[in-house]
Amino acid sequence: MSATLTGITERVFAYRAPDPQLEVFEPPKDRAFFADPEKKALLAAAKQVRHLTPYIGTELIGVQLSQLNEAQKDELALLVAERGVVFFRNQDITLEQQHELTKHYGIQDRDPNQQDPRHVTIIGRDNDIRAYGDFAGEYHADHSHEANPPAYTMLRMVKTPEFGGDTIFTSQTALFDKLSPSFQKLFESLHGVHSSEHQFLASVNAGYQPFRAPQRREHPLVRTHPVTNLKSLFYNPMFVVHIAELKGQEAIHTLNFLREHLHAADDLTVRWKWEPGSVAFWDNRVVAHRALPGGYDTSLREGKRTAIFGEAPFFDPSSETLSERLKKGKDEQVGDETVKLHFSN
Ligand code: SIN
Repeated sequence: MSATLTGITERVFAYRAPDPQLEVFEPPKDRAFFADPEKKALLAAAKQVRHLTPYIGTELIGVQLSQLNEAQKDELALLVAERGVVFFRNQDITLEQQHELTKHYGIQDRDPNQQDPRHVTIIGRDNDIRAYGDFAGEYHADHSHEANPPAYTMLRMVKTPEFGGDTIFTSQTALFDKLSPSFQKLFESLHGVHSSEHQFLASVNAGYQPFRAPQRREHPLVRTHPVTNLKSLFYNPMFVVHIAELKGQEAIHTLNFLREHLHAADDLTVRWKWEPGSVAFWDNRVVAHRALPGGYDTSLREGKRTAIFGEAPFFDPSSETLSERLKKGKDEQVGDETVKLHFSN
């Protein structure tokens, strides 16, 4: 847990959030299930498909999101589920078109701090990420404390500084895979306690009006992706404040370990440098991300983020780790180069 500020001020005491909490529900079937597993229509439309790192991140060059047909949209969902995040540059898509594209993937989600029901406006930040109780630049999965945390999430940058304000995305599928079998087994039996309390306090104290009260919610610490059937950590230091099954000090040490595991994972990470018109489309279920603050004029950074509700996180013990999936591909003798993996196309 990175936030230790209580911030319980008169303003917080006086504040009443207008909306009730959201109850868990079953969202529409993930559009990736409708995709051609080869993703032929989407990939054929790209001038270049550039995998940016082995574990996470693919850039599709020469594709306009505004021009995708229904089949290509579904295939994009599958590519995002497999690669964690897919990037585009020089997009001509308008805000209205972004809302429509988001709706293709499910029911539009609303962050508790989101003013417009259809998108969050993302801004520049100059906070000190090393300061006491400053969690704004910390790794997170967007509002993971909800009953149905977001699945596919799209951020389109409208304006960006010449340098600064990059975003880092880390594969939680690979993070889980890199743990020892003993830690994997232990973590599969645990639940993270996700809390929005500190964000709520910070938000009210900063003069915003979050429309839902703060909440704490337990989710499996290891979740199964419904489409890829791969196991992934579902941890993030911005919102996970406790481990339900552990005693206090046990949880603190485990959370410290998890934070270090995440922050040390340079090999499982992609760092994206934005330009106006760049888009990142990521799977919030299996990716942690953080926007790097400071060192630039924050008024020069603005983006629009849209997202859809995901399923309630679940853990299926019969799902696979990434290594198990790789090994299976090899055992099936498809050959190293053509192993039909979710991580190589
Ligand atoms: C976010 O946390 O969803 C926004 C990421 C960014 O500002 O780059």
